Amino acid sequence: MNGWISVRVAERREEAEGIVGLVLAPLPGASLPPYEPGAHIDLKMPNGMIRQYSLCGQVGDTTVYELGILLETAGRGGSRHVHEQVNVGDMLDISAPRNLFALVPGEPALLFAGGIGITPIIAMADHLARSGTPYALHYCARTHARIAFRERIAHSHAPHHVHYHFDDVPQTRLDMARVLAEADPQAHLYACGPAGFMDFVIGAARAAGWPEARLHVEHFSAPEGQDPGDAFEIEIAGTGQIVPVASGQSAATALAEAGIEVPLSCEQGICGTCLTTVLAGVPDHRDMYLSAAEQAANDCFTPCCSRARTPRLVIEI
Ligand code: FES
Repeated sequence: MNGWISVRVAERREEAEGIVGLVLAPLPGASLPPYEPGAHIDLKMPNGMIRQYSLCGQVGDTTVYELGILLETAGRGGSRHVHEQVNVGDMLDISAPRNLFALVPGEPALLFAGGIGITPIIAMADHLARSGTPYALHYCARTHARIAFRERIAHSHAPHHVHYHFDDVPQTRLDMARVLAEADPQAHLYACGPAGFMDFVIGAARAAGWPEARLHVEHFSAPEGQDPGDAFEIEIAGTGQIVPVASGQSAATALAEAGIEVPLSCEQGICGTCLTTVLAGVPDHRDMYLSAAEQAANDCFTPCCSRARTPRLVIEI
């Protein structure tokens, strides 16, 4: 990817148990691009890994970006690298912000954060509070010790806007049916957190009849245990080159082995970096980037994770 922005780690702090906060500053004389609540950046580690992290600082502040990074011991190594290797003064490369989780302007909001899912949600909550838009924040965590931004939340949000739910305190259990029933009928629901949490929140909203247009989600990782899928072929439009993709092999890997590089970032179908035009054939969409309507159009796919429902896909590179 071109256009990386060099930043310096200006501050590193322990936000909560297992969560490191990084404050990233631009080079002297430079500033950072503005962003909207819900935006994220790609962070390139010194070892070449690229991972996506939500911006959790004050929207409108282009002097620094803030990230909150949970140590994921079963993850792919990005968070471990940050926790163990990244310190104040280090230089890192980041992308410009992108926003796949934007607030609908002026509409009441019901915010649900599960664990580290608070990072985009806190920026959204701050924005809603400042703009006077009705909102409620439901923050679910395993224990009190794993709550991040506690002082900031207490300082910026009236207590009646904020509801904490702890796994180890049964009285605080999140009663989705009641919360949804009491919500403003025009409210939009925003959820970010682990897959099980998202399934719980979004499943409850769908069961309660909330329309899809009022449900907004930000995923952190792809579902595990996906079917490896059948083998298929990719034809490169223009050259006619045929690239076989084996069962269990990603299309992006097969293309790379054939000397065709597709830009990659998350490699999980979340970021859209690898989005590729499909001219013929039907993709087996496994991403969480395209909307249902975009997937149904079948004119593009994410080769990092998606496959084919037809024996061959013709793509444009
Ligand atoms: S690399 Fe992120 S969606 Fe494919």
